Amino acid sequence: MSTIQRVVVVGGGIMGSGIAQVLATAGLDVTVVDVSEDALSRTTARIAKSLKRFVASGKLTQEDADAALARVGTSTDLTASAATADHAIETVVEDLDVKRSVLAALDAACRPDVVLASNTSQFSISLLASATGRPDRVIGSHWFNPPPLMDLVELVRGVQTSDATLETALWVAGRCNRRTVVCQKDTPGFITSRLIVALGLEAMRIVEEGIATAEDVDLACVKAFNHAMGPLATMDFSGLDTTLHVADNMREQYGERFLAPQNLRVLVQGGHLGRKTGRGFAEHGAVS
Ligand SMILES: NC(=O)c1ccc[n+]([C@@H]2O[C@H](COP(=O)([O-])OP(=O)(O)OC[C@H]3O[C@@H](n4cnc5c(N)ncnc54)[C@H](O)[C@@H]3O)[C@@H](O)[C@H]2O)c1
Repeated sequence: MSTIQRVVVVGGGIMGSGIAQVLATAGLDVTVVDVSEDALSRTTARIAKSLKRFVASGKLTQEDADAALARVGTSTDLTASAATADHAIETVVEDLDVKRSVLAALDAACRPDVVLASNTSQFSISLLASATGRPDRVIGSHWFNPPPLMDLVELVRGVQTSDATLETALWVAGRCNRRTVVCQKDTPGFITSRLIVALGLEAMRIVEEGIATAEDVDLACVKAFNHAMGPLATMDFSGLDTTLHVADNMREQYGERFLAPQNLRVLVQGGHLGRKTGRGFAEHGAVS
């Protein structure tokens, strides 16, 4: 697998920038593709700012940070960038049609042996793969936010994903010094969203039943289970609208165990979406 040196990352947002930074720090050459030059200027600025923080905290030398930044190129031309890539990672907006059209474009432009990895948080990998002529070489590679700090990539197999494709994705994550978990079946929520949503919904029910305050539920998880953040704080951070959307989707697939409690639904209906609006299960101060 040492043949992978050039990676094309399509989508230069929060996740695309972070993933590109990690790949470049690991010594791979990266081209980030986005739809506009403005978006790409933000991508480069985000990577430079993050690398600066790594230098300031002593985790990276200035020389290594400069070398990593120099290994990241940007382009609005997907076809040209993909033509020379040894590996492709799709990290565009979470919109099924956009993702399928980007994967189809990558399929048309990349060498036939190149693996196409999607950073989707929820869509079926098999459904994404069916937009290409190489479904055996499509895989989910779900990074966590922020990629430069989070030590996990969740790999997700579609129905046709081959063992060789999984090996390639494991190699890329390993090269980036990331731990991996493998979701062996293409299922909604994979491993991680299924677990965190189940915990989050149960935490909400405990609050709704008047058993404990939101603060105590979060404190219990932080102190008893060593979680970095309580489940309600996590849901506030992710956005309660997103949480409700994911829960409703999972309920459709898995049944009533993913039924969203009324306290979540009512917060969303009232426009209280968590940290981004200043109020969720906790108050988050003034919204800037
Ligand atoms: N943000 C998170 O916490 C998080 C965590 C894990 C996974 N994800 C997933 O990662 C993906 C990206 O999320 P994000 O938070 O980085 O989104 P974002 O909105 O920050 O970035 C998306 C980027 O895609 C670009 N884009 C849109 N259409 C495009 C196209 N046709 N071609 C090229 N670029 C295009 C946009 O211009 C934008 O820069 C989504 O699938 C999301 O579900 C996000």
